[in-house]
Amino acid sequence: MTKPTTTNSGTPVASDNESLTAGTQGPILLHDHYLIEKLAHFNRERVPERIVHAKGAGAYGELVVTNDVSRYTKAKLFQPGARTESLVRFSTVAGEQGSPDTWRDPRGFAVKFYTEDGNYDLVGNNTPVFFIKDPIKFPDFIRSQKRLPGSGLRDHNMQWDFWTLRPETAHQVTWLMGDRGVPKTYRHMNGYGSHTYQWINAAGERFWVKYHFKTDQGIENLTQAEADRIAGENADYHRKDLWDAIERGDFPSWTLHVQVMPVAEAESYRFNPFDLTKVWSHRDYPLIEVGKWTLNRNPGNYFVDIEQAAFEPSNVVPGIGFSPDKMLLGRVFAYSDAHRYRIGVNYAQLPPNLPRAAEVNTYSKEGAMRYSYNDASVPVYAPNSFGGPHADPAQAPDGGLWEFDPTMVRAGYVQHPEDGDFTQAGTLVREVYNDEERDRLVSNIVGHVLGGVREPVLSRVFEYWTNVDPDLGKRVEEGVRAGLEGGATPPPSQG
Ligand code: HEM
Repeated sequence: MTKPTTTNSGTPVASDNESLTAGTQGPILLHDHYLIEKLAHFNRERVPERIVHAKGAGAYGELVVTNDVSRYTKAKLFQPGARTESLVRFSTVAGEQGSPDTWRDPRGFAVKFYTEDGNYDLVGNNTPVFFIKDPIKFPDFIRSQKRLPGSGLRDHNMQWDFWTLRPETAHQVTWLMGDRGVPKTYRHMNGYGSHTYQWINAAGERFWVKYHFKTDQGIENLTQAEADRIAGENADYHRKDLWDAIERGDFPSWTLHVQVMPVAEAESYRFNPFDLTKVWSHRDYPLIEVGKWTLNRNPGNYFVDIEQAAFEPSNVVPGIGFSPDKMLLGRVFAYSDAHRYRIGVNYAQLPPNLPRAAEVNTYSKEGAMRYSYNDASVPVYAPNSFGGPHADPAQAPDGGLWEFDPTMVRAGYVQHPEDGDFTQAGTLVREVYNDEERDRLVSNIVGHVLGGVREPVLSRVFEYWTNVDPDLGKRVEEGVRAGLEGGATPPPSQG
């Protein structure tokens, strides 16, 4: 027998289909509480979408540590044999909630580990670098990738205007315009912590590390033509692929690796190791395997588990800390602030965010939607004489100790010998991409630029790519000029 419908408070409802009226022709009665509740609740079903990374998909899984990296970190989740429950949310960056999964864009790769020491969040992307290196530029950068204020349209001219005025974007734009700018599925892409983080071992020794999740499915990408076609056929292509794979028991996995740099080498490394637009050469710092990360459970409810998931780079556990990467430090502020706005001050009590392997003993209390609380015998202030929790410096996460010059400045990063906005982008084009990949890079750039880039931005685009690689610059300019002379019409929206 089906269960009787009730109101949100559990009282039985008389009809699923007819409102209460005064006679069949009469007005609707205000005391039809169920009708009012239904309409009012519907009006409040949405929370604001994320300001970036609004469209995504997610799943639960676990990390199993297969190697011994305890000489680098005491973090419990990375000790040999440790198993830790995990949640991931993959996403595109600039598109809104209903936007096509196959628009060219970096992909978010946000991972939460429910560790014994509380939640550890590694909120990365599918690229090891980023467009900018100072958090003060983040709102400008994102606005240039979103929509024009008047027409509400996406605008390639605005995108290239920003990129060419800020040449530190070149490395990430070379990734974005290359094959990896549109992964075939979320399962077929790598994930990167991108930033440099700090690891601290049991003896208190510190190391700089970068995280790499290598897909065990192999890297596969879509061509621009495939991506455009799929965008029209199924905007949720990547979300569906992830859901279906897990439903049929084809659990996707990634092998987690780290690069480790002894602290003493940071100052003399050929690239500034804290500059988010740079990678560390794998020849200099080879990958060290950590473990296997597998996704094996779909969310029970998309809204509850994934839309309400709140990832924050501020969540670090003992054995892990921050670094002088200014972007990382800016992000340590930004995310919890965004969550308080988007899903409320008590977002940490929501099911995907609630620690699952650690106790919460906090002095934060009350606020909208609070439903868990300390026992009434626990004092609400610290210090106290009545057995309330007390902070233990020996247990606390090592939030980031490093040496610095205390003079206050607004300045760029210290330049290391091989730093430069175009150096690593050029290496990527010449030494990593093969001929076919370079051809597709040229074609993707030309197609994107023909989608509305005008002077004076256009000349700067040619200069930008010439600075990355002279031959590439020449090919881009030839391709764009030929397209313009041929009366090129903008390609279908490429995001
Ligand atoms: C989401 C800010 C740089 C990866 C977000 C959100 C904000 C934000 C406010 C929305 C959070 C929410 O409402 O749940 C910033 C700022 C940055 C920055 C201020 C620079 C200073 C980065 C970088 C990466 C990144 C460098 C990757 C390496 C992500 C991901 C998400 C996200 C993956 C989506 C998380 C999810 O799936 O819920 N960012 N971000 N962000 N950001 Fe950033």
